[in-house]
Amino acid sequence: MTYTMTFEGRPVRAEPGQSVAAALVASGVVSWRVTRGQGRPRGLFCGIGLCHDCLITIDGVPDQRACVVPARDGMRLGDRDDA
Ligand code: FES
Repeated sequence: MTYTMTFEGRPVRAEPGQSVAAALVASGVVSWRVTRGQGRPRGLFCGIGLCHDCLITIDGVPDQRACVVPARDGMRLGDRDDA
């Protein structure tokens, strides 16, 4: 079974057991937010829930750590998604 999520309106596939961050990176998305001060890109960094670089909005809930949230079918990812 493969899950389908959306990132900023475009489909992203995930395998059961993958994190949201792993699914994004596997689909070619390496940055999903920018820093407030200087607008620098951020995505997966530590990959174990410590650095908070991977924060993302999931189903309208902001500041979720993409590296520790399991991917699920139908998730809507990203600040600019219509969540
Ligand atoms: S990549 Fe560091 S907390 Fe997610």
